[in-house]
Amino acid sequence: MSQKTYSPYGIISERLKRIYSELEKVPIDKSLLYQLYGCISLADGVENHLEESTSPESENLSNLSRLTFEHDWDLALEKKKSSGFLGSQMLCGHVEGQFLKMLVTITKAKKILELGMFSGYSALAMAESLPKGGEIYACEHNPYAIKFAQKIFKKIQENRIKIKNGPALETLKKLTCKDIIFDLVFIDATKSQYPEYLEILIKNSLINKNSLVCIDNTFLQGKVFSKLENTNDSSKIMRKFNLNIARNPKFHAVMLPLRDGFTLLKLNK
Ligand SMILES: C[S@@+](CC[C@H](N)C(=O)[O-])C[C@H]1O[C@@H](n2cnc3c(N)ncnc32)[C@H](O)[C@@H]1O
Repeated sequence: MSQKTYSPYGIISERLKRIYSELEKVPIDKSLLYQLYGCISLADGVENHLEESTSPESENLSNLSRLTFEHDWDLALEKKKSSGFLGSQMLCGHVEGQFLKMLVTITKAKKILELGMFSGYSALAMAESLPKGGEIYACEHNPYAIKFAQKIFKKIQENRIKIKNGPALETLKKLTCKDIIFDLVFIDATKSQYPEYLEILIKNSLINKNSLVCIDNTFLQGKVFSKLENTNDSSKIMRKFNLNIARNPKFHAVMLPLRDGFTLLKLNK
């Protein structure tokens, strides 16, 4: 299923298409238009080819994605059913979902923590690779999203995903008392709180040197690296966070150009 993308390729494609349609109206060398068309085709091609060259989603994931895209999230907010903005573009999507699923397979992660569940797509993708006895703690503070995901998980009898209702920072503190070390953590909640999430994970020993931390949206739609994008507090915090973890000898970090930027991090000791 195609979806609005936060990736730089999607943003570049959208903008080039707008420029193309304006340039078409004025007298201009046709070879320039042709070159511009080539750029659009390259930008569009990356996303499409990534999708078609990645193993397909399971039926459950595909249904969850369809239901999320069909749902009127704006109406829920308007009618005050949702406690905050939610939108189908939040869902990580086919390629990232399969990447997360692959990471769970490779790491054999049994205890997984997700910060920011939304409709449950990434949690379900990871659950599909969980070994026997494995479980996912999925943290979400919007009761409307929780209800949506719960209904789907119940229907498909997915009971390895334990939803933690409440703000991520509070949930992290509560989990600390439980003596759990997570094998894999997927950070995808409030972007400006990413540094605090990582700090608590380390300080409270919720992760160790064997854990893999996956961090989503580290590009923030290009705001962290392009001076021409509208920066805000979140993008300033994210830029600092990205550079700090890359330069800190305590970490091994790799940023990947997957969708809106995806960083993998491990503690060196
Ligand atoms: C980008 S969406 C998550 C998408 C999901 N991981 C996926 O890929 O399908 C972010 C979610 O985090 C939730 N969220 C944002 N800030 C949060 C916080 N501080 N504590 C708990 N949940 C939060 C939002 O309500 C939203 O549902």
